[in-house]
Amino acid sequence: MPEVATKRVTAPRRYLYGPGPTNVDPRVYDAMTQPVVGMRDPFFFECMADVQAKLRDVFGTQNQMTFPVPGTGSSGMEAAVSNFVTPGGKIAIFANGVFADRQTEMARRHGANVVRIEKEWGKVFTQEEAEAFIEREKPQTVAFVHGETSTGAYQAMRPITAAAKRSGAITIADCVTTLGAMPVEIDANEVDVAYSCTQKGLSCPSGLAPITISPKAWEWLEKRPALDNWYLDLRMLAKWYEPPHVYHHTPSTTLFYGIREALAVIEDEGLKNRWDRHYRAHQRLLAGIAKLGFEPFVQEPENRIWHLVTVKPPAGVDEAALRQKLLENYGMDVSGGIGALAGKILRIGIMGPLATDERVDALLEALAASM
Ligand SMILES: Cc1ncc(COP(=O)(O)O)c(C=O)c1O
Repeated sequence: MPEVATKRVTAPRRYLYGPGPTNVDPRVYDAMTQPVVGMRDPFFFECMADVQAKLRDVFGTQNQMTFPVPGTGSSGMEAAVSNFVTPGGKIAIFANGVFADRQTEMARRHGANVVRIEKEWGKVFTQEEAEAFIEREKPQTVAFVHGETSTGAYQAMRPITAAAKRSGAITIADCVTTLGAMPVEIDANEVDVAYSCTQKGLSCPSGLAPITISPKAWEWLEKRPALDNWYLDLRMLAKWYEPPHVYHHTPSTTLFYGIREALAVIEDEGLKNRWDRHYRAHQRLLAGIAKLGFEPFVQEPENRIWHLVTVKPPAGVDEAALRQKLLENYGMDVSGGIGALAGKILRIGIMGPLATDERVDALLEALAASM
């Protein structure tokens, strides 16, 4: 047997100060080493129902149709976009970063008529802009990104959902970065469809994409023309979650144990306490990093994602070299910019276990020593 086949994986221990994946609570790792059971085992059905109930709490929704879609956040995005656009149907996209561009590309590939309102990266849309755009375009569907991970910008939901509601459009909110770390409040914000991931605010390994769909959007879905997508057909997926649990795909029981435990960790801390902890870490990091000469990329404080701080490095500091030193000398994995912001900003995640005074201070010390 070749030597390599007999070696066991030994992954390095890192502090994941990026936009995700985040560090994982030991309880979640422990849950993920529990025995795999059959997909029709009563224990697994119980686990699935528990995950759905806990997801409703964290999404802030009563939506019956709330469940994890297999795959990463992009799978949630493709499920939302493909199910809620029709060939030639109009979708209006609020574009201010990489992930709105991804929504755009998916909608185009599914044959939609895509119209966009563009904004400089790092800026967000106002109520007046949302109203004028939606009133002019009269779209069937509206999509936006709640926390634009490529820029660190936080888009308030109300200005968009209120305008969409007035025109009767279905709203899709990308909550990939925000769910579990800051309020999303799907029902209070009257969002029709929201999707997320497991590896950011929920602090779990990646692999599932929680999605929630309002009764109004579900009614629309029941009547829509045939879908060009088999694996992410939400109507078929829903039949797996509801008794008699019609077979659709073979779910990873291990990932379900993981998300169930990650949601239980959140429940034990208290959702509001968790949001507050992320907000405090945000304030502390911003104050400390400003003293080192970094400048926030998002200008207005109220438009910043709490647990993903984006900053421009001081003149003369090479962001890639800085990140390399942090990784090599401290095991701290900080991210750089992507898309148009590659090489221009740092993206610093303080999510889940890292959103503490101690971990923020440790990062600030390492940054100071590495510049
Ligand atoms: C806002 C947003 N949407 C969608 C995605 C895609 O998620 P994934 O990489 O899990 O497929 C990401 C990933 O970072 C994201 O930040």
